[in-house]
Amino acid sequence: MRIFLAPMEGVVDHNIRALYSALGGIDMAVTEFVRVSNSHLPDAVFHRLCPEIDNPINTPVRVQLLGSEPAMLASHASRIAALGAIGIDLNFGCPAKTVNRSRGGACLLQEPELLHDIAYAVRQAVPHHIPVTAKMRLGFNAREGYIETAQALASGGIQELFVHGRSKVDGYKPPAYWGAIGEVREAIHIPVIANGEMWTPEDIAQCIRESGCSDIMLGRGLLARPDLAIAGKQHMNGEPYTFMPWQHILPKVWHYHQKTVAQCPPKYTGNRLKQWLMYLQRTYPEAKVFFEAVKRLRTATELQKVYDAYKAA
Ligand SMILES: Cc1cc2nc3c(=O)[nH]c(=O)nc-3n(C[C@H](O)[C@H](O)[C@H](O)COP(=O)(O)O)c2cc1C
Repeated sequence: MRIFLAPMEGVVDHNIRALYSALGGIDMAVTEFVRVSNSHLPDAVFHRLCPEIDNPINTPVRVQLLGSEPAMLASHASRIAALGAIGIDLNFGCPAKTVNRSRGGACLLQEPELLHDIAYAVRQAVPHHIPVTAKMRLGFNAREGYIETAQALASGGIQELFVHGRSKVDGYKPPAYWGAIGEVREAIHIPVIANGEMWTPEDIAQCIRESGCSDIMLGRGLLARPDLAIAGKQHMNGEPYTFMPWQHILPKVWHYHQKTVAQCPPKYTGNRLKQWLMYLQRTYPEAKVFFEAVKRLRTATELQKVYDAYKAA
């Protein structure tokens, strides 16, 4: 069983990937997406998005591209591969209006022929040993056409397909339709990785049962419960697992916050910390208490003071 850390724009950056890689349980990660349109992006964009190209971590990281022009996507993929990326993923799941309006992300699910052409062009442009994968939803305006979509991508030559078990209009509303992911798995000959709405080890087991997939991708669930990949694997193996207590989580969250302070403009200080605490509240009541204490603070000094007092209490 493999567990992938899901790409999450504005959330799963290289700091988060390094932290989860060190924590354990995940086998692979995917970067946030880079939008490829009509002009060529400089190499610096990819070094920034995926610093793991230059400084690998224990977990392999694939670079995600979003766009609709086969030739442009192919030439960027080829350059990224030459820079040293270990895999390329294509985004056909993003539901954002601005992205869809410029023909990117989930709206392309309505054009299977184009999906095939993109997959084919990118596959041809990238050396064979570097996997090209894609991530899709179950449709755009409704949960329909997903078999055709998956077949178009598979026949274009991709190696693996991540399926988020919802349509674009489903947004992020529960449930995720794990059974439909199973239909996709049965319809194509490449590995299908199930994604969507797994928050507990029991959810993971249920998703695997319903989809028949052996590999999964976790997004918000891992942010809400950082040990979810470890716990999920142990649960699947019938092994006992000790829940990771808040005292082990908080120093990691704080370490992450300190990295973001050093790397983000001052006006964003604390935003990433607060964002992660919002997810953690789902699992840890302590995260809610801590969030309440920091939510109005704007400077690194104020935040540090509250953290020091919280630790000492
Ligand atoms: C804030 C946020 C940002 C996301 N960014 C991306 C992205 O850049 N690329 C992508 O393929 N999916 C993106 N997704 C979708 C996730 O990868 C995943 O498919 C979705 O959250 C469902 O999985 P989950 O229920 O485990 O979170 C994003 C989701 C969220 C909530």
